[in-house]
Amino acid sequence: MEEPPHRRRAHAGSRDLQRYAGLFAERTGVMRSSAMRDLMAITARPEVISLAGGLPDTSTFPAATFAAQMTRIAQESAAEALQYGPTEGFAATVDCIVEVMGAEGMLPDHDDVIVTTGGQQAIDLICKTLIDPGDVVVCEAPTYPGAVPVFCSYQAETIQVDCDEDGMRIDELDAVLERLDREGRRPKLVYSVPSFQNPAGVTLSLERRRRLVELARSRELLVVEDNPYGLLRFGGEPLPPLYQLDGGDFVIYVGTFSKILSPGIRLGWAVAPPPVMEKIVLGKQASDLCTSTLTQHFVREYFAEGRWQAYVDSLAELYRGRRDTMVEALRRHFPPQATWTEPEGGMFIWATLPEFIDTGDLLAKALREDVAFVPGQSAYVEDGRGRNSMRLNFSGSGEEEIREGIRRIGNVVAEQVELYHALTAGKGAEGSPGTPGREAEDVPVDVKAKPSSGPGHDLTPPGPDEGAVLPFRKKENTG
Ligand SMILES: Cc1ncc(COP(=O)(O)O)c(C=O)c1O
Repeated sequence: MEEPPHRRRAHAGSRDLQRYAGLFAERTGVMRSSAMRDLMAITARPEVISLAGGLPDTSTFPAATFAAQMTRIAQESAAEALQYGPTEGFAATVDCIVEVMGAEGMLPDHDDVIVTTGGQQAIDLICKTLIDPGDVVVCEAPTYPGAVPVFCSYQAETIQVDCDEDGMRIDELDAVLERLDREGRRPKLVYSVPSFQNPAGVTLSLERRRRLVELARSRELLVVEDNPYGLLRFGGEPLPPLYQLDGGDFVIYVGTFSKILSPGIRLGWAVAPPPVMEKIVLGKQASDLCTSTLTQHFVREYFAEGRWQAYVDSLAELYRGRRDTMVEALRRHFPPQATWTEPEGGMFIWATLPEFIDTGDLLAKALREDVAFVPGQSAYVEDGRGRNSMRLNFSGSGEEEIREGIRRIGNVVAEQVELYHALTAGKGAEGSPGTPGREAEDVPVDVKAKPSSGPGHDLTPPGPDEGAVLPFRKKENTG
């Protein structure tokens, strides 16, 4: 068969790059790829156990319910479901959103809500509305890896504030704001995922929530609360969202149906005060006119059944078991120097390895063993931070896969530890991070984690002088 005359070339050559380079907007120079999206392409191979994605378990959604609802839409509302819709979204979708937010004690005004193409678009539109090149954005360290490319593409200066087991350190945030004040600068927004954070799994304590809202109010600072996981709690007591504590004056809220129903329907939302919302709506018009009307119909039908909360509870129960399995596997297969968080909800564990392990390099080795995770660096804007950490997802794989996946990662970690010891043996490396006085054989593959491993860890990587075991810094009065 003859080849079609104008086949696109699969890869751009250097001549092509030169030809286009002069045309690119300045912002493309600082654009970054989302590590997760890159990984999704690699981990699509069926033999790979992916602990990398942020995938909810959609296999549990009843196929019969899905079929019945789509059939009803086809029979009763095909014309509207196949048509453009209002940029703000259908009123019926907003009713569902208000119901979801109500389940966490929030009472937004319907007019303050816009339906977006996922929470990701909501973050993008908020930044599009507020950020000029050089503006300051403050977020957690580590932060949601998918937010980093957004901040970069609007050319923000991103300042990250450390997290510990109680979420963002508000004392550190206060110090950052003071410093900026002295420089005559003011952040455009503070971005936070307060509940079961992606990637760290930690949750902002009630006291810190109150302090953050007080800070926002006293400094007239906008806080973007991104809350995809709040309803996926499987332990501990529910905490009020920032939006509820603030009443919606200084907190812009981002929500999504992705983790409580389906990411494939691409439905999320933002709630913002009217002047901000007006600009967000204009931004969305320019971006995609409106959110999928077909999937908005699906959500309406689904919520009319009144069983959405029972489904969310069933997901939380499922994820609890998977979290337990992952924690047990980490205790068994990760070296004693490793630490990790033990979240009370959501989908992620954040593990930190000895300083000399670079999880970016480790990923290449892990992929050879058909297992994947997200390297910690993707949760930081600054190069080099998070190098020895990784995000592990426990919602998207079955328990057997989780056990096997962690075993394989544990093996590649053990190889790295051995290699490091072999290379540094006799070179006075006793004081090197992760190795004081230890021989390679002291680091077995199958080890029980120290009793102190697990929650209660400071997520900050240790400094070079902090010895073998990652520090469990005592919580000071860090409110
Ligand atoms: C914290 C956070 N925000 C936003 C998103 C984007 O989700 P979506 O666009 O599917 O609503 C995710 C997805 O993983 C997330 O974890």
